[in-house]
Amino acid sequence: MNFALTQKQEDVKKLVANFVQDEVAAGVAQRDEDENFEPTYKLLRRLGDLGLLGLPYPKEYGGAGGDYVSYALAGFELNKVDASLGVSYSVHISLGTWPIFEYGNEEQKQKYAVPLIKGEKIGAFALTEPNAGSDSGASECTAVLDGDHYILNGTKIFCTNASYADTYVVFAMTDKSKGVKGISAFIVEKDYEGFQFVKEEKKCGIRASIQCEILMENVRVPKENLLGKEGLGFKIAMTTLDGGRIGIAAQGAGIAEGAYEYSRDYTKERIQFGKPIAKQQHIGFKLAEMATDVEIAKLMVLRAAEDKDAHRPYTVSAAQAKLIATDTAMKTTVDAVQLMGGHGFLRDHPVERMMRDAKITQIYEGTNEIQKLVISGAVLR
Ligand code: CAA
Repeated sequence: MNFALTQKQEDVKKLVANFVQDEVAAGVAQRDEDENFEPTYKLLRRLGDLGLLGLPYPKEYGGAGGDYVSYALAGFELNKVDASLGVSYSVHISLGTWPIFEYGNEEQKQKYAVPLIKGEKIGAFALTEPNAGSDSGASECTAVLDGDHYILNGTKIFCTNASYADTYVVFAMTDKSKGVKGISAFIVEKDYEGFQFVKEEKKCGIRASIQCEILMENVRVPKENLLGKEGLGFKIAMTTLDGGRIGIAAQGAGIAEGAYEYSRDYTKERIQFGKPIAKQQHIGFKLAEMATDVEIAKLMVLRAAEDKDAHRPYTVSAAQAKLIATDTAMKTTVDAVQLMGGHGFLRDHPVERMMRDAKITQIYEGTNEIQKLVISGAVLR
């Protein structure tokens, strides 16, 4: 077992940390205040310029030839400062690009995955529906073959990057009688007729990211945009989410680390009762717990990422990393606000935003209760 990063991984970490310092940090509070994705989208495109939107993909497909450990490191650095950019990034790489790269035929990969990997196009993933949230197999969207096209109808919700993304992986029932084995996955281009963005969600956190409701009314999707084969959609969704959960776990660990470091530095400066509050044993012990929790979270994320890199099964390690890291994000950000007292509650400091951002990490890409379902399924097998 080797806990040391390679030079290449160290380089990615430094590249992202410098980018965050130079281009992301200054405007993060304002972007959250404005609840506007446009500037986040520009930063996402900048990540493309730096080759980071194709970080874990091979060079022959336009990627950086990196690995998922590097992807996790990039996630830590981005999310320490800006979780809105962090989720847009993770969704692009893990949910929007990976299923096409993994399940697409060569033509689909060249046409759709390569521009996503090169950062020329942005990706999204449309699985969740009003009546199919945690129970993602209960899809009511339909896809009916009509000559050379599938006709898609139905509603998708909570779709991150939607309305800005160019390419969507969309799930719909091709044969309802077969249950989850009747779900299929399609590549849908933003401009297909009938593919409409009908509502932009107002949220508690990650307010500078975008999530939209999509209404599909007789969307004609060319037959050649079916991913894999009919009935493979649920497997595509589940395996895609296994990787996505590594990204969200990295997000949780990154948010936790950002809140821990900020509140630690504050307590070293804040004088009460004649000395920095960090010198109070209660606060020193709290910081010790936070530092340890952040370290555990990061190690769990890196372990899951390494499982994926080594082509070992990673469904369970990704679920465990997501569970631990996102619960750590919530607990650490609440503690960070508490350590800073009234000041922590003000928008003058980032920890209140981090606390709001942390909440969704326990919910999306499978609630943490769903992660426990996945883990318990494995331990009870
Ligand atoms: N890998 C491969 N196959 C898998 C799998 C996995 N991880 N998980 C399940 N499967 C297969 C099973 O093996 C089974 O196949 P067989 O019948 O051939 O054995 C089939 O899929 C059905 O499995 P289950 O019976 O376990 O399925 P289920 O209907 O009980 O659902 C679930 C399982 C884990 C609860 C799943 O529905 C789930 O993960 N729900 C959460 C959905 C989710 O994460 N949504 C997030 C949306 S994306 C998002 O949040 C985007 C964003 O903007 C950030």
